[in-house]
Amino acid sequence: MLNFEYTQPTKFVFGRGAEMHAGEELKKIGGTKCLIHYGGGSAVKSGLIDRVKASLEEAGIAYVLLGGAVPNPRDTKVYEGIELVRKEKCDCVLAVGGGSAIDSAKAIAHGSVYDGDFWDLWSGKAKITKTLPMGCVLTLSATGSESSNSSVIMQEKTRLKRGVRSDFNRPRFALMNPELTFTLPKYQIACGATDIMAHIMERYFTNEKEVGVTDYLCEALLKTVIQYAPIAVNQPDNYDAQAQIMWAGTLAHNDTCGVGRLGDWASHQIEHELSALYDVAHGAGLAVVFPAWMRYTLDNDVNRFARFAVNVFGCDMNFGNPRETALAGIERYEAFLKTIGMPVTLKELGAKAEDIPYMAKNTKRGPDGKVGAFVKLDTEDVEAILRIADR
Ligand code: NZQ
Ligand code: ZN
Repeated sequence: MLNFEYTQPTKFVFGRGAEMHAGEELKKIGGTKCLIHYGGGSAVKSGLIDRVKASLEEAGIAYVLLGGAVPNPRDTKVYEGIELVRKEKCDCVLAVGGGSAIDSAKAIAHGSVYDGDFWDLWSGKAKITKTLPMGCVLTLSATGSESSNSSVIMQEKTRLKRGVRSDFNRPRFALMNPELTFTLPKYQIACGATDIMAHIMERYFTNEKEVGVTDYLCEALLKTVIQYAPIAVNQPDNYDAQAQIMWAGTLAHNDTCGVGRLGDWASHQIEHELSALYDVAHGAGLAVVFPAWMRYTLDNDVNRFARFAVNVFGCDMNFGNPRETALAGIERYEAFLKTIGMPVTLKELGAKAEDIPYMAKNTKRGPDGKVGAFVKLDTEDVEAILRIADR
């Protein structure tokens, strides 16, 4: 197990009516005037924005509104938010929505107190050293952005989708009412569950030995999603199922199950190219990339994949041929994705084989030119993974 430092500053208010705590929580973090940032309109339509506004009014917090954060959120909306925060002299930010609204709000919070172009912080040119206090009301269980240390933004003109990790990205509070997810389309619920599983597996497939605590946590979270996601997809208003998925989504990506080990993250970086190029949902892109990545990297540690197959998907262990067990696990994972309505091939996603070299070349990598930690991949490897996905 590796040494680690771990800060989790996010306060969680979980359950029915959680959104009505917005005003008092903003007050606690010193807010007096807030930018409320949301997406394309689902939160307005459901009446959520009105309830949030009422909560701020009751607490005596002034506000301005900025909607329009789109899936795969754009830098252009961030610039608009930064300008608004400065013009209106807002001293805090509240995101209302899924990962896109939350990530966009994080960027606005950092960018409004940064002297240069906020994209410097995403391109790696500068580090985040301060931010405005920020909280969120979660409406989609998926990204874990409600307490994660990351934020992913797309630069419109280059279509580069880039993430930045920093503890400044962890919201000060997250208001989590599973009822708010009842209005989600089934497809988005399934995309969310797929993303949650991917966040766990990015950490689970590691070269570190003796990481028992986090291994078992990962397996428990994966089994929880496998049990409850089909219920949530088929009955979006099932509170108990949505509640399990919501909390699993938070634990999946706030590093509770990632400390002491090095996560892989290649599948995420490869997926960002798919969602940047085709504007597909992040979870759907992962459903295509992850099984292909598994098939490609399987031989790096057959026993780990076999353990995954047995402990997560209940496969029988073939002691004479653990590779067969490992493959059976990948097949069950893929079958599970299909049952919740996810695409598992590039074609089903609407991606084109001729774009594979471009995506492979563009995939973000580390200073050594490689992406991933479980297996370090170069451009040819990424291309090969995308070809496996091209069935
Ligand atoms: O914009 P509105 O109208 O709200 O509609 C959204 C959007 O169309 C809709 N939606 C959200 N909550 C709803 C709802 N519709 C009805 N009822 C509700 N309660 O769902 C659609 C998708 O929303 P979005 O926020 O884009 O989805 P998600 O939460 O999956 O976020 C995806 C983004 O987060 C990034 C992804 O790359 C992608 O850009 N990620 C962020 C991470 C992080 N910050 O830690 C980690 C992830 O790995 C991921 O990369
Ligand atoms: Zn993700």
